[in-house]
Order: sequence, then C-alpha cells, then structure tokens
Amino acid sequence: MQRKKDWWKAANVYQIYPKSFCDSNGDGFGDLKGIISKLDYLQLLGVDVLWLCPIYCSPMRDNGYDISDYYNIDPRFGTMADLDELIAEAKRHGMQIVMDLVINHCSDQNHWFQEALRDKNSPYRDYFIFREGKDGKAPCNWRSIFGGSVWEPTGDGAYYFHTFAKEQPDLNWESETLREELYRMVNFWLDKGLGGFRVDAITYIKKNPAFPDFAVDGADGLAGLNPGCQNYPGIEVFLGELAARTFHQHGCMTVAEAPGVPEAGMEDFVGENGFFSMIFTFDHADMDVLDGVWCRPSGWTVHDFRQGLFDSQLASQRVGWAANYLENHDQPRSLNKYLPAEIRNAAGAKFLATLYYLLRGTPYIYQGEELGLVNCPFESVEEFDDLSSVDQYARGLEEGLSESEALRLVNARSRDNSRIPFPWDGTEKAGFTTGTPWIKFHPAGKQINAQTQISNSDSVFSYYRQLIQLRNHSVYSDALIYGDFRPICTEVENLLAYTREYEEQKVLVFCNMQAAFCTVPLYQPAKLLLSNGNVELEQDVLTLHPYQAVVLGGQ
Ligand code: GLC
Repeated sequence: MQRKKDWWKAANVYQIYPKSFCDSNGDGFGDLKGIISKLDYLQLLGVDVLWLCPIYCSPMRDNGYDISDYYNIDPRFGTMADLDELIAEAKRHGMQIVMDLVINHCSDQNHWFQEALRDKNSPYRDYFIFREGKDGKAPCNWRSIFGGSVWEPTGDGAYYFHTFAKEQPDLNWESETLREELYRMVNFWLDKGLGGFRVDAITYIKKNPAFPDFAVDGADGLAGLNPGCQNYPGIEVFLGELAARTFHQHGCMTVAEAPGVPEAGMEDFVGENGFFSMIFTFDHADMDVLDGVWCRPSGWTVHDFRQGLFDSQLASQRVGWAANYLENHDQPRSLNKYLPAEIRNAAGAKFLATLYYLLRGTPYIYQGEELGLVNCPFESVEEFDDLSSVDQYARGLEEGLSESEALRLVNARSRDNSRIPFPWDGTEKAGFTTGTPWIKFHPAGKQINAQTQISNSDSVFSYYRQLIQLRNHSVYSDALIYGDFRPICTEVENLLAYTREYEEQKVLVFCNMQAAFCTVPLYQPAKLLLSNGNVELEQDVLTLHPYQAVVLGGQ
C-alpha cells in the first residue's frame, strides 16, 4: 500500500462545468472571468483544486469534448490571458487549476481532421483511423457510445472511426507523429503552471486493429464496442509513454476517466509508478442501468451499492490511490440516483456527502452537489441539449418504450440534470447571467441556492465545510486522508459502515441507508464528530435513524 504523502492526496477537488458556472458578460454562457469572480466562494467552501471541464476551442457538439484547436481557449469562455489570470488568482486563493485533457478524439472541425479528409495523402491522414468499407458496408458492426455505427462514411468508399459522436473522430495512437504532437501539447499546458489534468475517456485509445464483428446486442442491429477498444491489450505501452513524457516530468496530479480497468490492472494505472495519480471507476456510478443503456434500469439494491463502492476502495487501496465521487457532468444528481423521493432533501444530501467524502482517496465535489441540488424536470425531448440524452431517448423508442416512458427514463439519467446553470441566488436569473441562459434554469433554484446556504450553519454547504474541516484540519486528518479503509458491520443489511485508521487515530463512519432504524454495537468508547441528525449514542451502542449518517472518533 502507498504511504507517500503526495500533495494531491490531501486535496479536495471541485469540478466546474464552465458553461454553467457563472457568466460575466451576459451572453448566457459561463466563462473564465465568471469563475474568477467566484473564487472567494470556493475558498470559503474549503476546496483546493478546481477541475475545469474543457475550455479549448470547440464547435460544442459535445460541449467542449470535441476540440477544434488544442492550443487556444474558446472565445465563449474568454482568452488565454483570462486563463493565466485564473491560474494566478486561484493560486492566491490557495488553489490549483486542473484542466480536462481530451486526447482519445478531437473535433471533426480540427484542422488535422479537415486536412485528413481533404487529401488522402496528407500526413494528417495517419492521425485518424480510416478504413475501406466491407462489401459496401461499414468495416465492422460496433455501436458508438452516442449511438449509431462507430464508422462514418467519407463519401469515397472510406470510413473513419469514432468512439463517441461522428463529429468526434478518434485519434490514431498507433502513429508516433500523432503521439509526439500530443505530448508537446500536454507539456505546453503544464508549463503554464497547471496543477494537472483530468484525462478523458483514456481507456479507449487502443483498438483491436482487426475490427472484428461482435454478436448483435440491440434493436439497431449493432454490437457494443467495449471488447474491441476499451482497455485493449497494448494500451499500457501508450499510457506508459504518455506518463513518462509528460505528467511524470511535472509532478502533477492526474485523474483518468478509466472504465474497464480490471483489478489486476490497477497497479499499472495507480500504483507507485502508475500512469496516473488516480482513476475514476464506475462500479457504483453505473450500477443503476444495464450495459450503459438508460432505458434498461437494473433494479439495484443497497447491497450492490455497498459492494461496488467498497470493492473499488479495497482494490485501489491494495496498490494506490482512489478518486471518490458521486456526481459529475455525465451523471444525474446523486440525491435522485441513490435515494428515494422522501429523503431527497438537505438531510439526504448530508447523508450522501458523509458516505463518500471520508472514503480513502481524493474527494470530488461537482458544482451544486454542495447545495444538495436535485434533478431538473425536462418536459419534452426538445428541451435537452445533451446529444447523449437525445440518443438514449431514440434508443428507448427503438427498444419499444412509449414516448412518456422513454422521457421518464431519460429524465432520470440525463446529463443535463447536472449541466443546467448554477443557482447563485433566488432571483429570476439565478445570479448566473444577466442575459438568456443557454439552457433552462432549475425551477427549485429560488429555494436552493448558494446565497441562502452560505449564511445558514445548518445548510448542506456548511456541512461540506465541516467535512473538509474534519478531513483536512483536525486531529483526525491523518486517518481521514492517509488512513487505511476497512469495511465494518457488513452483516448488517442496508448499512454502509467503515473505519479509517492511521497509527493511533481512528474514525468510524456509519450510514444507515434505509427507511428503518438500525442499531450497531460499539466495542470501544467513541466521540461524536459529525452527523446529519440527532444522535443516540450510548456507552456501547449506537442507534441510527432512517437515512442517518454518523461519524465517530475512536478513543
Ligand atoms: C467523457 C466525458 C463526457 C464526454 C465523453 C466524450 O466521458 O466525461 O462528457 O461526452 O467523454 O468525450
């Protein structure tokens, strides 16, 4: 187990979706100056790393995850000077900036791709994956993650490969020239003084070059692509080279979006000399749907949740470090996903916060999670901006659902739930903009917003502050940051309980995830540190109310 006290282990990361955080110039689109204006708020919360979703030039087909120019800031977000100012101002506030790094694919508007399309003999042709069709059809039957074939015809018998939307052509990592180009670009940004990168969809960069057909698994006649290009053997060579040529030379923090890494591969990814500082795993995040298809709910149980979360903790602990999260820009709000309707309130938000924030690893807060925001109701498919929501709706209809049923399931899962503007206050435009927002506001923003919560010592915001205080600035900090994770009371149904221990320090966390009371024995005297409700703590027994979370300090 790693014992090194790297700086990013103690960090508290806050994820910003720049388009929806704060708009400084009234164009309805959040921007860098808007983020600068909110650094005091973030400092008050107590976070010290800000991860920005992509702000590079982009046609925004996938909100910045389709980059048309890797070396410039999209004018809608501001200028390079604004970014430099943000990095400097953040440092003054004790914070580092982490940028998104999207290098599995770029935009079809990127000049590399435009050149590759225009001229078959262009050196840029090899930056992408082009293949001839097979009997007038696509080279293989894989389905892209946003629907339809992974192959897009170019009109001259050839096809290009895209893991995501057709406007996001995959980069060909087999090309050494391309790889060199990417390393140069990564170092350019790190030289600016960034804290590091969140690395997008990185386990897709290696493909099975034979592109075999797989068994059809959907009404569209296509097959899931994962066996052919998710964490495909040989990827370790590319990732090792990437890390050695860039990240490892800067001592920066990296967190990779890495679905598909088996436990046996963890050490390569997050071990002492791993490719990354930590990775996002998906065991708990995707347990609510089958095969990533939103219209196939899984009927998960608390038992599954505990198992997914705890197994992933134990796997990362054996070799390295974890990245702990419940929400991000690809997920619906956690209150809706994990808790029943009656507890989707401040107490519920504090419950979930306690549960994940004190796990072993670096915790991530997604903008608005610190206010306990819930999903936003979308009345029709036209209201969605997110291309994946539109695709999943069509997929639901194709699989035989009624329009209202498909809409209900997409509402529950839509990425737009967490992408709508941040509610700074209860005014008509939520303090987000003076203009017309790019997507609608949350109807609950009048009641749930930053302004009302900052001054309320009982708010979800204040609770997050207490969690950060406890984790980073208390006598239990070593245990809560570096201490071992150990599941306890696993024989008790619907209880998620664990200890964190470091030398003489010990913290116990109990989360009763059910509408019933639950009693647990205490084998040693303990002191109450935090809870989302009134605590019944006796000498040797703790009684937990429905959906109560309690943190105790061992003595
Ligand atoms: C990642 C991003 C997601 C994006 C996709 C394609 O999963 O988190 O938002 O749509 O990659 O870049």
